[in-house]
Order: sequence, then C-alpha cells, then structure tokens
Amino acid sequence: MAQSARLMSLSGGLFKNAGNSIPIVFSQKNSSWWSHVEMGPPDAILGVTEAFKRDNNPKKINLGVGAYRDDNGKPFVLPSVLKAEEKMRGKQLDKEYSPISGNMEFCKHSINLALGDDNTIVPNGLNSTVQSISGTGALWIGAKFIEHYFPFSRDVYLPSPSWGNHAQIVKLAKLNVKSYRYYDPKTCGLDFQGALDDISKIPEKSVILLHACAHNPTGVDPKPEQWAELSNVIKKRNLFIFFDMAYQGFASGDVNRDAQAVRYFLKDGHRIALAQSYAKNFGLYGERVGAFTLVNADKDEAARTLSQLKILIRPMYSNPPIHGARIVSEILGDSSLKKEWLSDVKGMADRIISVRTKLRENLKKNGSTRDWSHITDQIGMFCFTGLNASQVENLTKNYSVYLTKDGRISMAGVTSKNVEYLAHAIHEVTK
Ligand SMILES: Cc1ncc(COP(=O)(O)O)c(C=O)c1O
Repeated sequence: MAQSARLMSLSGGLFKNAGNSIPIVFSQKNSSWWSHVEMGPPDAILGVTEAFKRDNNPKKINLGVGAYRDDNGKPFVLPSVLKAEEKMRGKQLDKEYSPISGNMEFCKHSINLALGDDNTIVPNGLNSTVQSISGTGALWIGAKFIEHYFPFSRDVYLPSPSWGNHAQIVKLAKLNVKSYRYYDPKTCGLDFQGALDDISKIPEKSVILLHACAHNPTGVDPKPEQWAELSNVIKKRNLFIFFDMAYQGFASGDVNRDAQAVRYFLKDGHRIALAQSYAKNFGLYGERVGAFTLVNADKDEAARTLSQLKILIRPMYSNPPIHGARIVSEILGDSSLKKEWLSDVKGMADRIISVRTKLRENLKKNGSTRDWSHITDQIGMFCFTGLNASQVENLTKNYSVYLTKDGRISMAGVTSKNVEYLAHAIHEVTK
C-alpha cells in the first residue's frame, strides 16, 4: 500500500491514502526520497578558495583560508611535531580504540596547558575533560551538554560578529542564538561600552560565549583590565561562560599570555566550560585533536559530568582518533620537545605579527592616508580590515586578492613576497 502510494505521480507533500487515515509523505514523480531537499549555499570560506583556484593571475593571493602558511605561502608542519612522530614510531604503538573520553594523558596535558602548571583545579579533581574532534567537536560536545543538562536557559549569547560556525553549532544543538555587541566598525576595535551594556542586560543564568584570545573574525581582544570588567559584569548577571580557545600561543606567541583571560575568570570564581583546539598552535588541522572541559564545583560533580559527557559522546562517534592526541601528549609530556614546540608556535605568531607591521608600512609607503593602526592592534590569524563589500569585490575582481565579503583577511596568507602587491591593491581600492 505504502509502496503503490509512493509510486503515484504527485508533486510532493503530505497526503492521506484513500480509505485510510494514516498520513503518507509523498515524494515526487520519480519516487525519490529526497526530492524536497533544496540546494544549500556553498560554505562562505571554502567558496573563496574555490574561486581562487580558478584564477590564472600569477599574482593572485588567497586570504580566505584559516590555516597557517610559511613565508613561501606553503603549509607548515612543525619540526616539534615531526620529532614527536619520529619518537612515536620507535614505540611501535598499537592502533586499538581510544577510551570514549580519549587519551587520558592527553586530556591531562591539555587542561594543564590551558590553566597553567600552577593551577589548583586539576590537582583537586575539579575538571571533567574529554578529548574532542578538534575545536569544533569540543564546541559541539559543550553545546549538546548544555542542551541536555543546563536547566536554566536555552539562550547562548555570542559576540557580534563571531566565528560563523558558532551560530550553526548552537542552532544544531537546538539552543537559541543571541548576541552581544563586540566589534566597533568605526574604530575597527572593541566596542567595550557596547559589550558591557549588552551583557549587563542578558537575563540571569543564560550562557555566554567568549573567545579566549585571537577573536575570529575580528582579531580584536579585550585588554586585561577590560577582561576584569567583563568578568565582573558576567558575575553580576550570573551567566555560564563557554570559553572557546582555538589559538592558545598562536596569538601572542606566548601560551600563558594567550590563556590569561581563562585563568583570570577562574581565579575570579567562575566555573566555566572550555573548548580547546590543537589545529592552529600545533598545525594539526587535519588530525582533528581538541578537548572539552567543564570546571566543576567539587570532585563528585566532576565525576558525574564526566560520566554524562561519555554517554553523550558514545553515540556521536564512539571514541576519538588516536594519532593527533598522541602527538600533543608526546610533546607536552617531554620538557625538551615542549620547549621546541613553544619556539615553533612563537615562530608562527611572530611571522604573523611581522607581516601585520609590513602591511601597515607598505600601505603608508603607497601614500594611504587612512588610519591602519588596527592592522597591528589586532592579533592572531585574522585581520578585520574595515573594507566594505564593494571594496572587497574590487580587490578580488581587479587584483585577484581573495577574501571573505566581510573584509576579513587571513594574515597567514600574507608573505614578505606578496605584501607590497597586497598593500598596493588595498590602497587602490580604498583611496
Ligand atoms: C574561533 C574558533 N573556534 C574554533 C575553531 C575550531 O577549529 P577546529 O575545529 O579546526 O579546531 C576555529 C577555527 O577556525 C575558530 O576560529
């Protein structure tokens, strides 16, 4: 019966089978199950790369991609990572399943890297930490945990703007996307007063997401004294904080400095959720290694939340991949390899910081009279240039410089070889 009904020539929709009150959802003529599924828009960032690949201009520059490139524009495998892999080969490790919560050594190193070696949270057993599928997976675990167990609110407040995937994750977890002011397009800097005003009006016991460092897409981070004020107002509103730390070490070149907001908020008495990613700071993009942590009130609560995190993870992907976590663990667990890694990550951060200076200098050399101080004030992989949509279009069409429509450029795509051309092109479209 259902089969013959499906084969009927109908345009799609909900129908009642003749003489039967059971509703049947019909697909289209060809009896396809998915004819009602509409074509979705392409991913905004991957679309930029596709267009870049099609361009034959030898001077073309891709500033869309969020992955580090060396000064020759090439992907970079950290020397400390290669050494760790070499060491691992010597150990002839097996390929067995990881536990549901991942590599335990890795989890311990990960949370200690975030909180600092002198933290009191890990020794007191207050953290429940699980390995995740990179930063995105950590955010997803956190969003699902909030969906299941946060009894107070469905509302998650994101900075405006925020990394595009944040809103998608929140929505997919059936939570509500809300926002607070963050970026001021007039100054290309932080709208601190706007943020304070908006946060002070958020209903109590809602969830607020904070970028720990190297805010994506703006590159704008609060200063330490501004973090202190934010902590204060968030405490007054009794908000639950979800920190996203995707760039520890990659922003300033110093892992402790980049984690200072997270550490300050904990000292100030907040009990937070934390997503960590090892994509950027270890260059382990495709290995998909990250961690999710809840900081709990006591040891017993930590054991209970950990048990439920595992119950959430099991049907999602059963257990995480092993290789990337082993690399991170090998490096963080070996003082001389860790030293090398700290210097590798500083090298990447320093290169980014130096091309920011070069870009600004070259804009000036080209005769630009605009204030470009935000290029060097902003931090991390991205720079919000302040270019509007038509300037971006002009840059792409006439100079083969590829970036997202919001004017965000990945500083990782800027090198000592293309910075002069880039500055010239930006000056031409903004003068
Ligand atoms: C703010 C932010 N959070 C999280 C991520 C997660 O990235 P991944 O899933 O590759 O670790 C990114 C990557 O671009 C990011 O910019």
